[in-house]
Amino acid sequence: MADWDSKYRDTPVPLFGTEPNEYLRQALARSDVDPRSALCLGDGDGRNGGWLAERGLRVTAVDLSAVATEQAQARDAGRGVAVERLVADLAHWAPPPGAAWDAVVLLYLQCESAVRRCALERAAAALTPGGWVVAEGFTPGATDDSFLGPRQPDILYDLEDLAAALPGFQVVEAFTGTTWLEEGTRHRGPARVARLLARKPV
Ligand SMILES: C[S@@+](CC[C@H](N)C(=O)[O-])C[C@H]1O[C@@H](n2cnc3c(N)ncnc32)[C@H](O)[C@@H]1O
Repeated sequence: MADWDSKYRDTPVPLFGTEPNEYLRQALARSDVDPRSALCLGDGDGRNGGWLAERGLRVTAVDLSAVATEQAQARDAGRGVAVERLVADLAHWAPPPGAAWDAVVLLYLQCESAVRRCALERAAAALTPGGWVVAEGFTPGATDDSFLGPRQPDILYDLEDLAAALPGFQVVEAFTGTTWLEEGTRHRGPARVARLLARKPV
C-alpha cells in the first residue's frame, strides 16, 4: 500500500496544488447542485474540503494520513475555515449514527476497489434525500508512460463498480475518457479518468 504519510511529508509544495479539483468545481457550478454539507472521503491535504468550507458548506473530511490531515488543518486555518477532519482508514470507518450530509466527495481516493466501494456505500447511506455523489479517479486505458496515475488494476476506478455502490441513484453524468490534469505537481499531464455525478432519490 502507498505510504501517503511519506509522500505528503516529503513534498515541499502541496502535492495536488492549492486549487480544488476541476470536476468538483464543475459539479458545484451546476444550478441543480447546491449542497449545504459535504463528506470528503480521502481528502488528503485538504484542497477540496477547504474549498467547500470556504463556500459555506459544513464539511467533514476523512483521510488515512495523519501528515496530510495536519497539513490540511494548517491550510484550513490559513483560509479561515473550520473543517471537521478525521484520521481514519476508510476500510473500517463509518459515519456515526444519525450523521448526514448533502454531498459525498470521492476524488482520487486511491485504495483497493473493495475498500473504496464499501466506503462509498457507507457514505451514500448517510446522504440526505436528493444528496449528491461527486467522484473522479484514474481509470484504465493509459496508452503510454506519459499518462498519469497508478497502473495497478485494483486501484483504478471503474464506473460500473462505482454505480453498483449506489443502487437506485440517478446517474446525472458518467464519463470515462482522456483529460489533461493541471493540479499541483502530481497531477499534471494526460490522464484517463472516470467521473461520476449521481443523485440519491428524494
Ligand atoms: C491521490 S490522494 C488524493 C487526495 C485528495 N482527494 C485530493 O484530490 O487532493 C489519495 C488520498 O487517499 C488517501 N487514502 C488512501 N487509502 C485510504 C484509506 N484506506 N482510508 C482513508 N484514506 C485513504 C491517502 O491518504 C491520500 O490522501
